[in-house]
Amino acid sequence: MAYAAKGPEANRELYASWADTYESGFIVDSGYVYHQEVVKVFSDGFTQKSQPVLDVGCGTGVVGGELAKLGVSVIDGIDISPEMLAEAAAKTHNGRPVYRQLIEADLTGQTELADDAYAGIVSSGAFTHGIFGPETISKLLRAASPGARFALGINSAHFDEFGFADWLEQQQLDGHIAELEFTLRPIYGEADEADPNQWTRIAAFAAA
Ligand SMILES: C[S@@+](CC[C@H](N)C(=O)[O-])C[C@H]1O[C@@H](n2cnc3c(N)ncnc32)[C@H](O)[C@@H]1O
Repeated sequence: MAYAAKGPEANRELYASWADTYESGFIVDSGYVYHQEVVKVFSDGFTQKSQPVLDVGCGTGVVGGELAKLGVSVIDGIDISPEMLAEAAAKTHNGRPVYRQLIEADLTGQTELADDAYAGIVSSGAFTHGIFGPETISKLLRAASPGARFALGINSAHFDEFGFADWLEQQQLDGHIAELEFTLRPIYGEADEADPNQWTRIAAFAAA
């Protein structure tokens, strides 16, 4: 994973050069299972399969591909990288595009998503070093319809460094979210137990 990239401009550059080999190289070579682990947690409890779901930091669309296999039929993706989004736009399931809409935007900036638009919000690989901190979740909560299911994969080292547990528990105490659960899962098939950068804390909760 690209821990060196810090901030939106660095990420835009990094993923521009990485987009065409991201799946055929990185995902295959590293034994990446992050997208599958997040979608497993998401689908456990998500029943509104015909309602819109947002894939945050969708990249080339591996999360969307997993959601489509489970019958989720309306999937939007948001990402800062037009090159990664071009890969996602080409992704199909049963001959149909996986994504209904792909939004090019910097989610750390002024981007506003439509209010109450999504019944589900999912993310793998984007809550990590140099990309999204807890404050991005506030923006996603505004875009979620009441009761929407969230499953956000958060790099385990980043989770501790940025205090995601305290931040999310406070959101629950304040009544903004409910049913908060954390699940520790590997990012790679053969993750090293001693390396927190090879593990994800998947935060699952419902928007209030
Ligand atoms: C590690 S990739 C994860 C892609 C995909 N979800 C996966 O699991 O393979 C992180 C993604 O976050 C996107 N990203 C980085 N900074 C961003 C920002 N500020 N706003 C929106 N997307 C961003 C990158 O372009 C990249 O596609």
